[in-house]
Amino acid sequence: MNTTTTVSNADFLATVAEKSDGAALRGDYSKADAHYVVSQDWAAYTEEEHAMWRRLYQRQMALLPGRACDEFIDALQAMNAADGIPEFEKASQQLFAATGWTIVAVPGLIPELTFFEHLANRRFPVTVWLRTPEEFNYIVEPDVFHDFFGHVPMLFNPVFADFIQLYGKGGLKAMQLGGLDQLARLYWYTVEFGLINTPQGLRIYGAGILSSGGEVEYCLTPGTSSRHIHLEIERCLNTLYKIDSYQETYFVIDSFQELFDGTAPDFTPYYDKLKSVSPLSANTLLPHEVELLPAQ
Ligand code: PHE
Ligand code: CO
Repeated sequence: MNTTTTVSNADFLATVAEKSDGAALRGDYSKADAHYVVSQDWAAYTEEEHAMWRRLYQRQMALLPGRACDEFIDALQAMNAADGIPEFEKASQQLFAATGWTIVAVPGLIPELTFFEHLANRRFPVTVWLRTPEEFNYIVEPDVFHDFFGHVPMLFNPVFADFIQLYGKGGLKAMQLGGLDQLARLYWYTVEFGLINTPQGLRIYGAGILSSGGEVEYCLTPGTSSRHIHLEIERCLNTLYKIDSYQETYFVIDSFQELFDGTAPDFTPYYDKLKSVSPLSANTLLPHEVELLPAQ
């Protein structure tokens, strides 16, 4: 997709259709406004869907204590989202009171420009539809469970919330500078698959892990072939990632403040430099790098 210009709704849908061999983009985009926002229509969810949400929630909560970071667990519990698909409006009010973020409902994947604009304005887009029963264990596109359960609790943390807004602004800038591939890797390895070091050991803060049935345990298991290395920004910007398997590298931060401070500087020099450097494969370990989860 040509991401350096504004893409109209129609262009976006055409591009996605092309990408996936003519398959329609999942989700109903017909009622979306210019920012791809829809109404959640909470009353339309079926009892089966609420029941599946509860099963997804319970499966994750059986795995997350001692593995997810405290910031995530504490916020999730305060949201009371165990009983069924949450009403975005209510959660949004709670979130706004905590960090000034709101939740907006979207039909599914949205164009990069629109995504960055929402984040830059402290609005988090959450997909309205829930996966089918066949997709209980594995889903390709983000659904309401991934988006809400995985992402929203972290936005209650003030530092993380500020970081995501800054990321949105950085995305708009990266579109101008030709740095989107690089910036997307940082999102992937932090917001989606990040780990944080705590006095109690490594903990998960990445939404892609937090909402996954298998990767919660996998990413903290010693002796797998996956790397666990400290997050270094330029290195991460230059590292390819896998979208169809567990991650081969997990980048670890020591604090959310470290993440914020490390990403605050101007990325222009990184983008300039990395344009002429070939990216590292997902399982790279550089000579000076120390693995943080020792094999046992
Ligand atoms: N500081 C980055 C820039 O100038 C933007 C950014 C902020 C990127 C936070 C990621 C996270 O481009
Ligand atoms: Co996500």
